[in-house]
Amino acid sequence: MEPWQEIRNELQAALGSAKRLDEVEQIRVRFLGRKGKITLLAKETGFSRLTPEDRRHWGSQLNSLKRWAEESIEQALAEARAREAARAAEASRARLDVTLPGIERRVGSLHPISLVQMELEDIFQGMGFMVLTGYEVETEYYNFDALNIPPDHPARDMQDTFWLDNGMILRTHTSANQVRALEEFGAPLRAIFPGRCFRYEAMDASHENTFYQLEGLLVDRDISVANLIAVMKALLGEVFHREVKVRLRPGFFPFVEPGFELDQQCPFCDGVGCSVCKQSGWIELIPCGLVHPKVLEYGRVDPTQFTGFAFGMGLTRLAMLKFGIPDIRLFNSGDLRFCEQFPVVL
Ligand code: PHE
Repeated sequence: MEPWQEIRNELQAALGSAKRLDEVEQIRVRFLGRKGKITLLAKETGFSRLTPEDRRHWGSQLNSLKRWAEESIEQALAEARAREAARAAEASRARLDVTLPGIERRVGSLHPISLVQMELEDIFQGMGFMVLTGYEVETEYYNFDALNIPPDHPARDMQDTFWLDNGMILRTHTSANQVRALEEFGAPLRAIFPGRCFRYEAMDASHENTFYQLEGLLVDRDISVANLIAVMKALLGEVFHREVKVRLRPGFFPFVEPGFELDQQCPFCDGVGCSVCKQSGWIELIPCGLVHPKVLEYGRVDPTQFTGFAFGMGLTRLAMLKFGIPDIRLFNSGDLRFCEQFPVVL
């Protein structure tokens, strides 16, 4: 047998039984190191004494032996390294300390406006109201004309309304849904319209150009102010989890007659006077009134047969009151620390 075949067999056997990285490393030294078998074989061959033909033969055999040895050892090293890594991973798994605190996972939370909106929808659905949403981009007709708001009314002032290039507007109040709903469903009707509204306002702690309202509309036979007050009291009692005192003051809105501002006795001081109610003991909360006959007509409902009430709650304002939020700008701040503070009670 020629020497290279012998060395091949020997190396193969050695690699076959070597498992650890250092064992393979030793084999590499034993065969390819400075005094390694293959290195010495090349040195001791005494090429000068060979015939040119033998020299070629030996040379090519030695070269291929060397290349094969290098590749085999390289592969064995890689395998040993992989085995070692797997063993290390296994060992660290075994050492898992179950008393360590876990990896914290962030749990999502709901925005306070969503919370208040969901709560109100729930309460109103319990009283038989539909929940409708309408459009944030509205026509001038539904936002103003059909609500008996004449063209020279200050609400149409460029200061208040965002006009789009195509002549449409961003709705300034959820009242824009009143005539849409009457047209679609007729009377009798009970519906609420929660949604986002827009006004061209300078922002400060209590003014935003984007805010949420929740409009309510109830149209039926013989609806009076007493029905309006009863529904408002039931609603506020549920929201604040207690009996709430309310009072009505006259208020003017072209689409209601009579129109009111419904005030709630200040829940923070029980009417004694504090900074929230500016020492008055009352908080102006819900503009409302009996639906103007013209609005019913616009909605193709006969005002001699039906009457109704409407109210426009500021969802944003209600959330501020309910949760004691001091600055309206927090709502759109995008700050998760803000949203995470509100308990989800489902
Ligand atoms: N839409 C009115 C506003 O935004 C509020 C309102 C609604 C008043 C319904 C009366 C009845 O100010």
